[in-house]
Amino acid sequence: MAKDGRDVEKMQQIDGRTRLCGLIGNPVEHTMSPVIHNTLAKMEGRNLAYVPFLVEKDQVRKAVEGAFALDVLGLNVTVPYKSEVMEYLVGIDGMAEKIGAVNTLVRTEHGYKGYNTDLMGLYRAMCSEGIRIEGEEILILGAGGAARAAVFLCVSKGAAKVYILNRTVEKAQAVAEEANRIFGTECVEAMPIDGYQRLPEGKKYLAVQATSVGLFPNVEEAAILDRAFYERVHTGFDLVYRPSSTKFMRMVKDAGGKAYHGLKMLLYQGIAAYELWNSVSVSEEDALMVYGRMKEAMGIEE
Ligand code: ATR
Repeated sequence: MAKDGRDVEKMQQIDGRTRLCGLIGNPVEHTMSPVIHNTLAKMEGRNLAYVPFLVEKDQVRKAVEGAFALDVLGLNVTVPYKSEVMEYLVGIDGMAEKIGAVNTLVRTEHGYKGYNTDLMGLYRAMCSEGIRIEGEEILILGAGGAARAAVFLCVSKGAAKVYILNRTVEKAQAVAEEANRIFGTECVEAMPIDGYQRLPEGKKYLAVQATSVGLFPNVEEAAILDRAFYERVHTGFDLVYRPSSTKFMRMVKDAGGKAYHGLKMLLYQGIAAYELWNSVSVSEEDALMVYGRMKEAMGIEE
């Protein structure tokens, strides 16, 4: 029961006016997105249902066109289709275009427009934890899709310096060059994964863990296992949320820093998509109630 008496347990009624939203990706069975959107819909008394759709790799165009034909209000897009789906849209938001990835499709008159709410989600999650970007020196681990969103966010929000550390340094260089070019800056620098050894000792950084290392079931792995790295970190933000305590987070904490997992980023990317689909603004109180539901679904107690 919500504080104001709304009953979030009430059964959802599907009827002739129910609007449908969903997720396309492969795989989709472990997604938390239905928890986010169906909880929000119930809390708001909105006649909306959200379901995952498993889409095979040569079916993405048909899935998008079929969803439009079926009057689907909006879709989320997950791995591995965040770039490919851009070909099948009638418009793409400027930031999503820059990132080169779309995770949210919003229905317009003639087709879907693509957005990237991962970036907004990460920003809102960081703000909600009191993490500053503006004027900060930031280490990003990884140079894949998730890392790109983190780099673009940090540059667009005024970071003083962004170091991209990646196992394949060429990929880090490509992302750094692109971010510098797009935002007209020189603040992004690429490094090999052990490049932190060149950073001045004693200085502390915000570190964003954006590699795929440490994901369940590889819970004892981290892209960097050297304690000397973690001694340079005052705050560690892992984009991974399964498990909710990663090796990266544990190493940050052991070295005296604060550490966060990626579940709030997932929450807020969902909230941002819901807001786009329904032209509403979700209050922080409601967002945190949804977060409670997500934690319950994941068996997280803190
Ligand atoms: P995502 O979309 O989740 O970002 P991705 O694009 O496949 O996934 O990127 C995965 C990231 O994790 C890359 O930065 C990758 O490093 P490489 O560019 O060198 O491949 C990084 N990564 C994956 N396995 C790794 C490992 N064992 N050690 C270090 N980095 C790793």
